[in-house]
Amino acid sequence: MDRVYVTRELPERLIDPLRQVTDVAMWDGDGPVPNDVLVSETSTADGLLCMITDAIGPSLLARASYLRVISQMAVGVDNIDTDECSRRGILVGHTPGVLTETVADSAFALLGAAARRLFEGEREVRSGKWGPWEPFHLTGGDLHNTTLGIVGMGRIGSAIARRAAGYEMRVLYSSPTSKDLPDADHVPLKVLLGESDHVVLSASLNVATRGLIGASELRLMRPTAYLVNVARGPLVNTADLIEALLSGRIAGAALDVTDPEPLPPDHPLLSLPNCLVVPHLGSASVRTRNAMAALAVENLIAGLEGWSMPAGFSTAG
Ligand code: GLV
Repeated sequence: MDRVYVTRELPERLIDPLRQVTDVAMWDGDGPVPNDVLVSETSTADGLLCMITDAIGPSLLARASYLRVISQMAVGVDNIDTDECSRRGILVGHTPGVLTETVADSAFALLGAAARRLFEGEREVRSGKWGPWEPFHLTGGDLHNTTLGIVGMGRIGSAIARRAAGYEMRVLYSSPTSKDLPDADHVPLKVLLGESDHVVLSASLNVATRGLIGASELRLMRPTAYLVNVARGPLVNTADLIEALLSGRIAGAALDVTDPEPLPPDHPLLSLPNCLVVPHLGSASVRTRNAMAALAVENLIAGLEGWSMPAGFSTAG
């Protein structure tokens, strides 16, 4: 029987199909599995079910002589050296599709919370500073009838664009290739940054997108604009973002992801009143996380059995 290692405790009812066909070991400690445990467990595993918090790099892979399949419970696989996996003939699976709509919901929840300054208001209420109603207190930006710039037009970007139509937004997007989207205009990133009232990042993290938004890009944005990141923290240069938020270069930001992640409690980003940070919750609805775990299990079983994975990751895109 194949041996698989699961790097986070998942509900038994979801793991059960894996137990039927493989010998399952699972990390059941608090938080992510420590790297030394991950390396040693993977060195005897045929399959690995892992999370974005697991670093799957060349030295781990070099010791994983039996490993045939890696199945990640996430759509992004930037924590996995996928080139090294393909050199070693290790299949990689991930969980696109099942989380698309939930992450797009999160993007709009964050955009609404940031642009309408809901989190600043909430903080005020909780800290006992709710005074009499004032005509221009905590006024922010609108969502409806504005221009939304979407950076990265994959599945999630398209789902964000569909929601934008309901807000009667004009949609601009930047992406390496133009898509067949009648209600969204493909423009260079610089044009998008200059013309958008709000910018949402939904691109995957890779060599081309790391540090995509730095000081010069933030300078192109409107001072009334809000930046939302539901993709990966390293798309944005954190020091440059802090500077842009501090100086009022942009109006505010709402971040589901940060660099570093998690943020230490004394991190400067957390002291900025115009920055909302949530702990990487983009796909965190009960239904979607269940669907992601179930798909990760299906991918792993399929890969080990030699069938085609329902959602195999391909470096060719
Ligand atoms: C979460 O960040 C994912 O990539 O699914």
